[in-house]
Parts: sequence; structure tokens; C-alpha cells
Amino acid sequence: MAKRDFLNLISLSLKDLNWILIRAKEYKKNFVLLRPLENQSIGLLFEKASTRTRVSFDVAITRMGGRALFLSFDDIQVKRGETIEDTARVLSSYLDALIIRTFAQEDLDAWAKHATIPVINGLTDLYHPCQIMADLFTIYQKRGPLKGLKLTYIGDGNNVANSLMIGGAKTGMHITIASPKSRKPNKDVIKEAEALAEKEGGTITFETDPDKAAEGADILYTDVWVSMGDEDKKAVLVKKLKPYQINKALLSKAKEDCLVMHCLPAHRGEEITAEVMDGPHSVIFEQAANRLPVQQAILEFCLKHDHTRH
Ligand code: CP
Ligand code: NVA
Repeated sequence: MAKRDFLNLISLSLKDLNWILIRAKEYKKNFVLLRPLENQSIGLLFEKASTRTRVSFDVAITRMGGRALFLSFDDIQVKRGETIEDTARVLSSYLDALIIRTFAQEDLDAWAKHATIPVINGLTDLYHPCQIMADLFTIYQKRGPLKGLKLTYIGDGNNVANSLMIGGAKTGMHITIASPKSRKPNKDVIKEAEALAEKEGGTITFETDPDKAAEGADILYTDVWVSMGDEDKKAVLVKKLKPYQINKALLSKAKEDCLVMHCLPAHRGEEITAEVMDGPHSVIFEQAANRLPVQQAILEFCLKHDHTRH
């Protein structure tokens, strides 16, 4: 049977996406008493910093009976010239899966191509699929079926925005991205998301005016103005993105019961005010907590083919 990677949400069927959401609910309630990763060793290969992804995957693996090995890119031989191909081949002979956080999506795809074990995307410059699964789960828990909900993303058209467009389109949501023209999401991802939205009855729209974009939103979502790898553009980004802040005035344009989301880490006073982040509409810390059960479900999905045939 072919191995099951988790590289982006495009290649995940809606049926499998829904399976992960339903299974995550069971993990969250501690209904899953099995230890499906008994005797399995899973590598956490990180080229960028991480708090949530690293720790929640480590804990998920431990709770499921497996062993997590944290491998910083600074400590393995890749930075000294060993190829991804050779490293992936060698690590596949010791480990049962790899969770990778790296810069280029092409590099992640190369790891997946040369590894004979499942590879899970722990964030690239292009996508952050595990985050978006936790986001969809959080919205589903708060609001029920996702189809028809309006989610407005305010800020930089980055990896999180790209994956939100795909995940939202796939589940029939109406996604609006409010960003400066020069910081719109990736063009190819927009095309994919538009095609998916058409198929599933959702929409993808773009706005430069955050007030207009926030009108009638069920969910307002934001992320940092300066992503990892963009530090050299910091001054320009902060200037450009200044009008794209979730604050009380913007929140008043959205629906009365609007949820406020942020993948974290946050910079209070930049992309979101402290007042809104710590206010009654915010589900941000629950969203972060949901990374754990959702990733337990993702691990089971990738590693336990037989258990998840449905
Ligand atoms: N949201 C998220 O992925 O956080 P970390 O960068 O801390 O993993
Ligand atoms: N867009 C952010 C997300 C961090 C979880 C980054 O790539 O740094």
C-alpha cells in the first residue's frame, strides 16, 4: 500500500479531511484509549523555530505510545552538504514517519519523494496544513457545519492564508482575503482554491479595504505581518500592513458573534490589539490547544492505514 503523506490540503480528499475532524473530537475527549504508535519512532525535523507545532506533535506522539526524536537542521548533516535524498533514505530505515518544518515547499516535496515513510508538513513558506486543520476543527466545534460560513483573513497573504484558502474552499466556506495588492496570496494557490470553491459551493474573494472585507464575517483571522524568512523585509511589511489590524473598530463590522482567530505567535499591537486578542470573541488559545487532538488524528491517518479505511 502506498505511504500516506500530509503535505498540503489540496491532495487531501474532503472525506479524509472530515474523518480527521471527527477523529480529533474523540482524541479531544480522550475517547481513544488505544496506543496506535506503540513501538514507533517519529522524527521532528525542524529548520525554523516552533513552539506549538513542535511541542504538540511531541506530546501527541507520546500520548499515542510512540517516541518523538527532535532533529534540528543545525544538528544533522544536511547543512554540511548531505543531500535531502540520501538523508531521507537513511532516516526512513530508522524511523516510522517524519514531521518537517522547512522553507521551500519543493524541499518538503523532495523529502516526501525520497522517504519511504510518511512525511507531514509542519509548515513551509507556502503552506501550513496542520494549523488549518486545527482551525477548521475549532470553527466546527464552535459553529457546526463549515459550509456557508464567511471567514475573513486580514493581513499578509502568507503560508497560513494560502492553506486557509484551500481548507476553506474545500469545506464550502466563503473566504475573503484582505491584504495590500502586493501581498496577495500565491497565484497558483489562488487558482487551486478558486477551482475548489466552485466545486464545493464556496467563494474566494480579495479586498484591499479591511473594513469592507470584515462586513458580515463569521470569523476574523489574522497572522503575523513578518513571517519566518521575511525578516529582511520587516520595515516594508510593517509599513504596508499597518492598516490591516484586527481591532475593536474592525470587529464591529463583523457579525455580532464573530470568532477571532490567530495561529500564533502574535504581536499584540501589530496585527491584532491586546483588547481583541484577550477579549470575548477570541478563540485563539483554544485554537492553539486544538493542535494536539487534531495532530493525533493526522498521525493516525498517516500511520494507521488499516484503522482509518472508511
Ligand atoms: N502556529 C504555529 O505553528 O506555531 P509555532 O510556530 O509555534 O509552531
Ligand atoms: N506565517 C507565520 C506562521 C507561523 C506559525 C510564519 O511562517 O512565520
